[in-house]
Amino acid sequence: MVLESVSLSFNSYRKEAVKLPSPKLSQRDRLRSLYPYYAGFSEAFVDAALDQLGVGAGSRVLDPWNGSGTTTLVACRRGARATGIDLNPVLAEISVARSARDHSVKVAAEIVDSGIRRARITLEREWGEPLKAIYLFEVELLSPHRGLFGQKQAHALIAVALYSTIRSLSSSTRSRNPTWFKSVPEISCSPSAFIDAFNSALERVFDIQRANAQNIISTPKIFNADFVEWRGRECSYDAIVTSPPYLTRIDYVKATFPELSYRKVREPIDLAMLRNRMLGTPVTAGLTVAIPETIGHEASRALELIKGHPSKASSTYYLRFYAQYFVGLAFSIAKISRLLRSGGGAALVVQTTYYKEILVDLPNIVAEMGMRHGLSLQGIFPFEQKNSINYLNTRSHSSKAQVPPTEAVIIFRK
Ligand SMILES: C[S@@+](CC[C@H](N)C(=O)[O-])C[C@H]1O[C@@H](n2cnc3c(N)ncnc32)[C@H](O)[C@@H]1O
Repeated sequence: MVLESVSLSFNSYRKEAVKLPSPKLSQRDRLRSLYPYYAGFSEAFVDAALDQLGVGAGSRVLDPWNGSGTTTLVACRRGARATGIDLNPVLAEISVARSARDHSVKVAAEIVDSGIRRARITLEREWGEPLKAIYLFEVELLSPHRGLFGQKQAHALIAVALYSTIRSLSSSTRSRNPTWFKSVPEISCSPSAFIDAFNSALERVFDIQRANAQNIISTPKIFNADFVEWRGRECSYDAIVTSPPYLTRIDYVKATFPELSYRKVREPIDLAMLRNRMLGTPVTAGLTVAIPETIGHEASRALELIKGHPSKASSTYYLRFYAQYFVGLAFSIAKISRLLRSGGGAALVVQTTYYKEILVDLPNIVAEMGMRHGLSLQGIFPFEQKNSINYLNTRSHSSKAQVPPTEAVIIFRK
């Protein structure tokens, strides 16, 4: 099979000069993580990237696609002023919990100890509608404790334990794709079984966070917002360490469907709107405007190849999907450039992908986008990659996914 490359690709990647550990989470990382999140990157990688970018106490660090909050957590261990943004409210809450300090773990334990008996009565009474009953249980647990110092993190820890419980009890709604849930979770156990599962989830969350909290010095600012619309102060960040959603058609809304369905009982969330606004969403709007030049030559060439591919829907759905992603990514990279101070640095982790046999060389595409928007490229550094998300999604459109994708970190300076 001949692989068509949309760029110089690997020839222009540099292997020397920067030694960074792989961003992939190891099995050990996953076991110790507060929440199972397949798209998270490793703390060791973020630590090395922050060293590379000269981040110390007081430095301003940003992650515009913060996910479970690895960048903000690691930055807070060195006393940096960290800001994380994520459009998914569940991920924003998880990252608040991950940065909880010892005091907040104690507050969370006190809240549960003092309120669980009363909350249990509510849960049992309302169990006809389990998700609503769990919501009322949570309200009952938390309501007498509003205003306690450290409560935001404490609430987030309790929410994470509830999310774990709901996820573990709603496994029947999983589809063949491990990152996709089909429908609203159905919980068919008894209220006592729910309480037992919640207690063990809490124990696990507290244990992990007590260990995590040891070296946390500062508290991050976490925003549940669309990065495209978020108003940050321009020229004010010393470092940006991040990973945009990859081009794997992973649906970050479907992947957290059990948690989002629960949150929807707590507060109004427009799931359709959330899906539409995610960078990399598989939902495409009709492309009525011309594709701007700001996406660069690399991305434009990829679009030309996709458009000309003979397979079904290449020139319709897939062209729209890739074009929408590139336009959103170019806009976000321009914004990253504006937010960095002069002399500041950015490390972005991305991965090559295939559309059929066409290589879409995302590392080079991002490198070009950065350079077009005032950043100077320090290098593209590839990591060895075995367990790609392409392989997780067995129904991925990447029919040639047997060719291992390359994950790379791109380093810029402004
Ligand atoms: C690859 S993950 C980041 C993982 C992160 N590095 C970690 O260690 O957990 C990408 C994240 O981008 C978020 N996202 C997608 N579109 C967004 C947008 N427009 N604004 C902010 N966040 C967005 C998704 O919800 C997802 O959590």
